[in-house]
Amino acid sequence: MKKIHWIAGVLIAAILVPGLLFGKSKAQVAYPEGYQSWTRVKSMIILEGHVHFNAFGGFHHVYANDKALESLKNRKPFAKGSVLVFELFESIVENNAITEGPRQVIGVMEKDPNRFTGTKGWGFEDFKLADPNQRSVTNMRDQCFSCHESQKANDYVFSTYRK
Ligand code: HEC
Repeated sequence: MKKIHWIAGVLIAAILVPGLLFGKSKAQVAYPEGYQSWTRVKSMIILEGHVHFNAFGGFHHVYANDKALESLKNRKPFAKGSVLVFELFESIVENNAITEGPRQVIGVMEKDPNRFTGTKGWGFEDFKLADPNQRSVTNMRDQCFSCHESQKANDYVFSTYRK
């Protein structure tokens, strides 16, 4: 009888432990409501031929909430609650002008060292068409952090604020 209990115990543990380790709900970046009225930090147009064209070619703007702006201005590490948004539009090159086409995606970085422990405190997410229901990041480290890691000296952020 004892042996059966023991076996049952092992079986239950084998089912529960991986669930606890790997199945726990992953921390998610919150949708950045109202980001378009935050501070625009910078804009850039990436045309064909640029190294990042395939990943995010087009017309983009970077927005920062108040907390993130404070760090950008003072060039200090970002406080918990800092959020940065990378908003990407198609770019239309026409009549000697480059204009914004349809919106493609917003990329979001949210700082919370308690929730995003595997990526130096930053959570990453892409919302296709800026739709709160169309998340597309399944692995923050591989899809996003791996490249942002090069900006360690600036707390993993590429953009700088021009006063
Ligand atoms: C191949 C490199 C690379 C990858 C992968 C990448 N980024 Fe970036 N990201 C950049 C660069 C370069 C910039 C700066 C763009 C500029 O100067 O306008 C940037 C800017 C940003 C910004 C604005 C803040 C900042 O760092 O300037 C956010 C938000 C952002 N990325 C989110 C994401 C998310 C979310 C992912 C994953 C889905 C991701 N990025 C993947 C290179 C990358």
